Amino acid sequence: MCGIVGIIGKEEAAPLIVEALRRLEYRGYDSAGVATLHDGLIDRRRAPGKLRNLGGILATDPLPGVIGIGHTRWATHGAPTESNAHPHASDRVAVVHNGIIENFRELRDELSAKGHAFVTETDTEVTVHLVTEYLRQGLDPVAAAQKAVKRFEGAFALVLMFRGDEDLLIGARKGSPLAIGYGDGEMFFGSDAFALAPFTNRVTYMEEGDLAVLRRSGATVYTVNDVAVRRPIVITQAGAALVDKGNHRHFMAKEIYEQPEVLGHTVHAYVNAITETIALPRTAIDWTAVSRLTMVACGTASLATQVAQYWFEQLARLPSGTDIASEFRYRDAVLMEKGLALFVSQSGETADTLAALRHARENGQGIASVVNVAESSIARDSDSVFPTHAGPEIGVASTKAFMCQLGVLASLAISAGVARGTITREREIELVRRLLEMPRLVGEALHQEAIVANIAQELAKARDVLFIGRGLAYPIAMEGALKLKEISYIHAEGYAAGELKHGPIALIDENVPVIVIAPYDHLFEKTISNMQEVMARGGKVVLISDRKGHDLSGDGVWMRIEIPECEPAFQPMLTAVPIQLLAYYTALAKGTDVDQPRNLAKSVTVE
Ligand code: F6R
Repeated sequence: MCGIVGIIGKEEAAPLIVEALRRLEYRGYDSAGVATLHDGLIDRRRAPGKLRNLGGILATDPLPGVIGIGHTRWATHGAPTESNAHPHASDRVAVVHNGIIENFRELRDELSAKGHAFVTETDTEVTVHLVTEYLRQGLDPVAAAQKAVKRFEGAFALVLMFRGDEDLLIGARKGSPLAIGYGDGEMFFGSDAFALAPFTNRVTYMEEGDLAVLRRSGATVYTVNDVAVRRPIVITQAGAALVDKGNHRHFMAKEIYEQPEVLGHTVHAYVNAITETIALPRTAIDWTAVSRLTMVACGTASLATQVAQYWFEQLARLPSGTDIASEFRYRDAVLMEKGLALFVSQSGETADTLAALRHARENGQGIASVVNVAESSIARDSDSVFPTHAGPEIGVASTKAFMCQLGVLASLAISAGVARGTITREREIELVRRLLEMPRLVGEALHQEAIVANIAQELAKARDVLFIGRGLAYPIAMEGALKLKEISYIHAEGYAAGELKHGPIALIDENVPVIVIAPYDHLFEKTISNMQEVMARGGKVVLISDRKGHDLSGDGVWMRIEIPECEPAFQPMLTAVPIQLLAYYTALAKGTDVDQPRNLAKSVTVE
């Protein structure tokens, strides 16, 4: 979850490391730090909080040296204090680490018994002491690193820098991503290619168990058995330009307002508008041979799969299920022969989703993925990859990636229906036409901004908020609650409207706003009955519906948000818009940190 960087360069390394860390801050922002070698000695600057705090320290107290390592942290073991901030160091070696060393307690006990004094609460510090121990025993840095890494259990990526050698960095990868960048007389390590994009587009993605020795002249990569191997150098597409906020106050706002455009890009990648057919990329799936579809993801991506389950069942009559990755990987699910497992992830690096993918592969499932980062681990480990074309998503709360996931999943479900004979040619034409309209309609849904901003002023006063919906609106109710709690810190729950009377209705009083998501469709009347039950108990209802739905919803609704009418199957793409805006404007009203909410990170690369 943390971001790590290493540079053996020609110019001052610290400013370059900070630039790379800025591009990794999506992975965590609890603290940041840089270490360099200066006259052969290790020197460090570290600061709790966001990278700008470290920048302030470096401005007044610069760190000289042309070789260095850097880190931006999402805290796992130990509070986000300066002493727990990476790089951790002894007089011999400095280390940056992403992931978790699971057996750190036993290593710590062993090393403490040998006289090593521990000064932090982190798991990472054992890496420093174990490598130092092996160096003291007379091993050279490469042998010491190789021996130490073999003893670490867990999922991690590490970069090490050694006293007295300004031409050496060692990186190791087990479970967490690490890339090598090739410059001109310069070499780099980075958690991803995006971090390295200002310096190089020539990158090697290290594989599981790899340990790489970097010198200015190049890299030597060793397998887990210490055998030197050649790993391919690829030209990455990661852009060098740092994405900016445009005219918006926050990345999240920019990303919400980009949705018509990026949904358009995504849909057009899967639709042939001339022939009015769904046109999947070459890696397409034979849907007639799939016995069952298992969709696995985390968080917002998992809510996209829950929408997609309705699509695959209703449009393609394909037996389908969804699972949260952290449950799926340990649940020992019964996976059918000829089953297809589909993984959905913005980052493509989410640790639980990646582990679930490997579990599904070991259990004989075909592997497909819907990812936003085309070069990510999940994409690289899949048989078929269906990219979302959302562009870099920087706001921690996912918005446009979710929208594009819906665009891809809808296209896949239609293609499955066509292949399985449950969608006629006429219906395919109709669905393709309606799908192509969705970017424009998402744009229209954004026009509700002023009304939503007003409602948000009221929501900001609430302690608890409920979201309810039926059918395709149910996952959106959960997404609305997730968005609201993660960026405004207001407690919120999303419920299937029919479940309300089985418990949660006890919460209803005049202080609990209830957001009812009920576009006019075959379930409208039923959701409106549930809404009446809420109002009868004094609950204050915000109704999200289309013109017809509002006209037929009766009196007593507290506030209303109107969305355009559309093909009923695609309603989630429109209902998603007001729930995102509600969360955004409520967070603005509360003054919280919209783009980097507390305790969260954009890419969750620990279990
Ligand atoms: C919520 C959010 C998270 C992510 C989840 C999965 O707004 O962004 O719930 O959806 O952490 O991340 P990816 O899609 O990168 O696998």
